[in-house]
Amino acid sequence: MPRQDYVASIDQGTTSSRCIVFDRDGSIISVAQREHRQIYPKPGWVEHDAEEIWQAVSGVLDEAIGGAGIDSGQIAALGITNQRETAVLWDRATGRPVCPAIVWQDTRTDALVRSLAAHEQLFRDRTGLPLSTYFSGPKVRWLLDGTPGLRERAERGEVLFGTVDSWLIWKLTGRHVTDVTNASRTLMMNIHTLDWDDELLDVLAVPRAMLPQIRPSSEVYGRTAAGIPVAAALGDQQAALFGQACFAPGEVKSTYGSGSFLLMNTGREPIASKHGLLTTVGYQIGDTPAVYALEGAIAVTGSLVQWLRDNLGLISTAAEIETLARTVDDNGGCYFVPAFSGLFAPHWRSDARGVIAGLTAFVNKGHIARAVLEATAFQTREVVDAMNADAGLALTSLRADGGMTADHLLMQTLADVLAVSVVRPMVAETTALGAAYAAGLAIGYWPDTDTLRANWHKAAEWQPRIGPEVREREYRNWKKAVARTLDWVE
Ligand code: G3P
Repeated sequence: MPRQDYVASIDQGTTSSRCIVFDRDGSIISVAQREHRQIYPKPGWVEHDAEEIWQAVSGVLDEAIGGAGIDSGQIAALGITNQRETAVLWDRATGRPVCPAIVWQDTRTDALVRSLAAHEQLFRDRTGLPLSTYFSGPKVRWLLDGTPGLRERAERGEVLFGTVDSWLIWKLTGRHVTDVTNASRTLMMNIHTLDWDDELLDVLAVPRAMLPQIRPSSEVYGRTAAGIPVAAALGDQQAALFGQACFAPGEVKSTYGSGSFLLMNTGREPIASKHGLLTTVGYQIGDTPAVYALEGAIAVTGSLVQWLRDNLGLISTAAEIETLARTVDDNGGCYFVPAFSGLFAPHWRSDARGVIAGLTAFVNKGHIARAVLEATAFQTREVVDAMNADAGLALTSLRADGGMTADHLLMQTLADVLAVSVVRPMVAETTALGAAYAAGLAIGYWPDTDTLRANWHKAAEWQPRIGPEVREREYRNWKKAVARTLDWVE
């Protein structure tokens, strides 16, 4: 039997699926990646084909193992991390999706969510979440309402629901399970009992028979056909918290992908936010108590850069945004609020729509590019302000990760806008690393979280360079632009 020297991780994100093989130091041995289609049937609708996602995942798993020059027998465990909230429905008998997956960004359930407003407090108390189109429960209800016979089949357990983790574990091992972090994003799990809540299921009219069993984030769920233990699942933002070694209460990370997500570890008690943040499960290792987090979710950051590339053609690669933004010294008075999926934290307004404010004939594409990068920083400031207010302390340093952290101008802008130092770790792939860590812990590949903490090393740091007057003036202008996004949808 070959030595089991590696742990692999599947990172199934909103735009692509990746598999990364790590060694014991948490260093990357090989990476494979495939994109999948974004399907936009109507304004506000975003769909994925779950079968296409599965094919991509199974492809990158083989490629990454092959690329490392090893065989699957040398992989000690496999962890899964995924885009959260996206709802997949499939047929138990055939294992095929019964409809397109509704993606987390999709706002088609807006009217349905508003019709549930009388239950807002119940959902907040039980799930830690505001009622929003963002979460899975209303998406499942919408699908069950819209297809004749589907609810009856779901009641008989013939049609199953899962978030993407659950779908992939089903395909890899044949078990219908999910983990607590993913379940905490459905509006159906009671965050205190960590079980599905019958009263919420009644309100949403979702049958329990179609739901997966909720399990800890780190345990062996089953084995792949090649015999690799599938030993962890975490929503991608919780995985990044884990990969950034934020194991102590008060530790915060911020991940910059298609959206951006700040999470603060709050320890063993769920803390209710008074300032528009989400209470969510951070992770649960085996049968130890769950660790909770406060989260500021921002729907659109990196996807605004893609929009500039794909819908406007202002740049030809995402990386060019930095070059274009550097052609000017400032935003030229221009502010861009990308409320494409409404506004998430701390506003929670699904009726908001994007605006570019402050246009004059002076503004050129360089200024727009700068406003695009600043939008990420200003949205982060809104969330940091809320987190400071909820936690009763002031953040002094931000651990940033994700694809957008390659943009040095963005990192400097973040430090300027937040007035804190911004730090990037050596392994920027913290999402995949977090799932690998959780899988490795489950099978004893790594002994404990202290060992994982010792793997964290700083790669770069940015300090604020602007003064408080400019900082506060710019932020006030941003707030004025935000006010103009509201009340667009009748
Ligand atoms: O809540 C949505 C989040 O999980 C999506 O993350 O990195 O795929 O944009 P990402």
